[in-house]
Amino acid sequence: PVRPTLPVDILFRKGGEPLVCLTAYTTPVARLVDPHCDVVLVGDSLGMVLYGLPSTLGVTMEMMIAHGQAVMRGITHAMPVIDMPFGSYEESPGQAFRNASRLMAETGAPAVKLEGGVHMQDTIAFLTARGVPVMAHIGLTPQAVNTLGGYKVVGRDDEAAQVMADAKAVQAAGAFSVVLEKTPEGLSERITQALTIPTIGIGAGAGCDGQILVVDDMLGLFTDFQPKFVKRYASLGQTASDAIADYAAEVRTRAFPAPEHSFADVLPAKGAEK
Ligand code: KIV
Ligand code: NA
Repeated sequence: PVRPTLPVDILFRKGGEPLVCLTAYTTPVARLVDPHCDVVLVGDSLGMVLYGLPSTLGVTMEMMIAHGQAVMRGITHAMPVIDMPFGSYEESPGQAFRNASRLMAETGAPAVKLEGGVHMQDTIAFLTARGVPVMAHIGLTPQAVNTLGGYKVVGRDDEAAQVMADAKAVQAAGAFSVVLEKTPEGLSERITQALTIPTIGIGAGAGCDGQILVVDDMLGLFTDFQPKFVKRYASLGQTASDAIADYAAEVRTRAFPAPEHSFADVLPAKGAEK
């Protein structure tokens, strides 16, 4: 029961109740976030969060397809979007279409996200003209970490005009929405007011049309580092660590397994155990 099409109510929601977005990489997590979210992103952040890579640069099409398929099995309500990985779209509009259409065909996701503003305008226009809905991603674009010189705020002072130009370029190219990552709050608000498509912020302040976080970050599961913009709504990493320590102690003292976790040699006369 996978949602097959792009819901236009989400596409054009602007200026109303903020859009709620989270990432998911697996079926069980997709099932958890789906009822609460407008958009579920299969983010290439999975490279760091799931695979222990130092950045998103090592993420492949095969990884995005495998996790996109897993997430699609868990979604019936929200709109799924799948990230295009580094190296799969930058070379040319043709390369981008080939890989975007493969992501959509093999996962069933109705839309893709790619990083870049003015320099991706032609590619976004090429994709949208050929049936690929595109969510853009500007400001801090993690796939460009090596040319940006780190995961710094993008758009302070003189940089602000460039980010505004990027926002206008992706909208003109036909993007249905744009992620603003780590742009200062005043600039994010000005971009949101200047655009007719919804802005989705991550570390971009409260003025955006929606918000997104990496779900493992907000659950306190991924704790390698904690950006300032992440609010932790739970400490699942600590909860898991405590549970694993309890298990280890109980195995070592033979407290686990107890009789109720074991099977009798003779079938009990009455009762349910099979
Ligand atoms: O890969 C990702 O998780 C993302 C966002 C959080 C926007 O691109
Ligand atoms: Na991403």
